[in-house]
Amino acid sequence: MRILLTGKNGQLGCCLQEVISSSTHTLFAFGSDELDISDADQVASSVAKVQPDIIVNAAAYTAVDKAEQDQAKAYAVNEQGVANLAKSAQALGIPVIHVSTDYVFDGFSVEPYKPSDITAPQGVYGASKLAGEQALASICTRYIVLRTAWVFSEYGNNFVKTMLRLGQERDALSVVSDQYGCPTYAGDLAQSIVCLCDHYQATKELAWGIHHYSGDMPTSWHGFARTIFAKAYERGLLSKVPKLTAISSEQYPTPAKRPEYSVLNTSTLEALSLRPSMWLFSLDKVLDTLSAEFSGE
Ligand SMILES: NC(=O)c1ccc[n+]([C@@H]2O[C@H](COP(=O)([O-])OP(=O)(O)OC[C@H]3O[C@@H](n4cnc5c(N)ncnc54)[C@H](OP(=O)(O)O)[C@@H]3O)[C@@H](O)[C@H]2O)c1
Repeated sequence: MRILLTGKNGQLGCCLQEVISSSTHTLFAFGSDELDISDADQVASSVAKVQPDIIVNAAAYTAVDKAEQDQAKAYAVNEQGVANLAKSAQALGIPVIHVSTDYVFDGFSVEPYKPSDITAPQGVYGASKLAGEQALASICTRYIVLRTAWVFSEYGNNFVKTMLRLGQERDALSVVSDQYGCPTYAGDLAQSIVCLCDHYQATKELAWGIHHYSGDMPTSWHGFARTIFAKAYERGLLSKVPKLTAISSEQYPTPAKRPEYSVLNTSTLEALSLRPSMWLFSLDKVLDTLSAEFSGE
């Protein structure tokens, strides 16, 4: 199948490039410099040129705090950009696989969020991503939204890499312990997206609509940091484990409010035989890959 991928240089985009390149599909991948999804003409002409069988959108405005000040840009990419892709896909009669976020929820639930649960974003980023989901649903007859969470990988900027850097620089640090979610390896998400593409190619059908894909075990940012430090120390990536203090979100104010609990119920995808990201195992893989970079070799 001919797959048009946007946002090829992001965490998910890089992982998708790897996975699709070793699949039977033909990849047409675009970075933001080659295809700005917020530009309707660029989207229409790229789609017309590539004539894809499916569009996978890994492009997004993901700066959660910056979005509070940069609302227009966040919506231009996360709502209008998705609408542009949706219109071109619908005109060509092809489906879109789009990625969204746990931050569409308010975080007041006490059990994992199901795809059908009521959304109530706490900040501009989450609201702009929700607007993108709604634009896609209103334009496309065949689409998949995969909401994911706490994405990490060997690529780009993410919590794992930030903790490794801080762990090297500092003897002690404080990390928020009252926000819970499921870390998700971008490579596992990419594999699942390609499985969906395979299934679509074989059957011309998919379970259209919204699904959740995330890691298999909830933790807090503090718990995630503790695990990263332990595993990094085991590998000699850190010469010592920094002293880690648990703090509340109130003690670490950020411009954007984040949900306290954004654990996602992934059962609709599990029903399609897609397993959640085994993030502890994937974290080992990412740390092994990062070893060379962080040990200064
Ligand atoms: N990261 C997380 O923790 C997290 C959590 C939940 C959900 N998600 C969702 O998961 C998806 C993948 O996230 P990620 O972590 O891979 O994000 P990422 O690393 O920030 O990558 C996003 C990519 O989108 C590109 N982009 C931005 N504006 C664009 C535009 N107008 N046109 C085309 N490309 C544009 C960026 O390119 P430039 O760098 O050139 O701007 C970047 O390469 C996103 O939909 C995100 O909302 C992420």
